[in-house]
Amino acid sequence: MKAIVLSKPGGVENLVVQDIRTPIPGDHEVLVQVRAISINPVDGYVRESGLLKLTVLHLQPEEQPVILGWDIAGTVTDTGRSVTRFKKGDDVFGLVNFEGHGKAYAEYVAAPESHLALKPAGISHEEAAGATLAALTAWQALVNYADVKKGDKVLIHAAAGGVGHYAVQIAKAFGAYVIGTSSAANKAFILGLGADEHLDYSAQRFEEVIKDADIVVDSVSDPANLARSIDALKPGGALVSLVHSFDKNIPIARKAREKKVFTHRLGVKSSGEDMAAIAKLLDSGALRSYISETFPLEQMGAAHTSMATGKTRGKLVVLP
Ligand SMILES: NC(=O)c1ccc[n+]([C@@H]2O[C@H](COP(=O)([O-])OP(=O)(O)OC[C@H]3O[C@@H](n4cnc5c(N)ncnc54)[C@H](OP(=O)(O)O)[C@@H]3O)[C@@H](O)[C@H]2O)c1
Repeated sequence: MKAIVLSKPGGVENLVVQDIRTPIPGDHEVLVQVRAISINPVDGYVRESGLLKLTVLHLQPEEQPVILGWDIAGTVTDTGRSVTRFKKGDDVFGLVNFEGHGKAYAEYVAAPESHLALKPAGISHEEAAGATLAALTAWQALVNYADVKKGDKVLIHAAAGGVGHYAVQIAKAFGAYVIGTSSAANKAFILGLGADEHLDYSAQRFEEVIKDADIVVDSVSDPANLARSIDALKPGGALVSLVHSFDKNIPIARKAREKKVFTHRLGVKSSGEDMAAIAKLLDSGALRSYISETFPLEQMGAAHTSMATGKTRGKLVVLP
């Protein structure tokens, strides 16, 4: 099968097409013929620094060849002997083996059945592939951690991006009042997702407008944004950071404690159960993937270059 192998950590030129053996699914795995792959900023970080950057946390040796990627949608073509949830011919999607060696940049992926859900019939493979890592992150932040509910005021930073555009829609699906931040260029897009208000980060200081949020989801790289997000929360509110650890930002953690704001640094996890919840939302039409660009597999480097601009609207998808 064709796969994109990372020849060595570094630039996009190190993402090379190779013919390698099709994987054989383990007992609890299914073999998925991949129809669409989505990419995320983490793919770029790992391309630059190597897979061990992630897997060292789990003390795994780096396995060769290194194949990046975790987000897939496709069709089951084989099943391990202990698989009970899927059969050949099922269309599935999910975040495979995160944080580990996902090996998603390939025509076939062996994936644990516990990481997948059935793809809703009315949703394309491209839309399904988009709604994996980024949608799971939004779900795990808002639902599993912050327990979002009807009437909550929710501030979503980077609301036009991969995670943000799902977070706006998930918070709305739970009946929240949603404010999204972005540049002016993405205002109409964010309001079109259902957000109640938009704030342009280059024209307004969000904490001067919003002072009583119940939940803030922050994925902006500048830690000052996290500190300012505490000012936008009410006491007892929840601040979820996708980027910064509070134990490495002591003054911010102290400021949150003084205001009685709950803090959490989310690390998204593969979960078939959460994928099934996302599938339900996609199926009902409450959640939609916005795919801004698609690339053929051979142009994975160009997809990475586009992702690195930090200006992605919705999701980027690669087609094997
Ligand atoms: N911890 C985890 O488990 C986890 C999971 C997923 C993602 N993440 C991290 O979260 C971050 C976002 O991920 P993503 O997939 O959503 O990225 P993305 O799709 O690349 O985000 C791009 C968006 O960021 C917006 N943006 C940039 N600077 C902004 C600012 N100062 N204020 C508001 N919006 C801003 C841009 O909007 P404009 O063009 O309008 O500026 C653009 O639409 C990344 O660092 C990623 O690694 C962490």
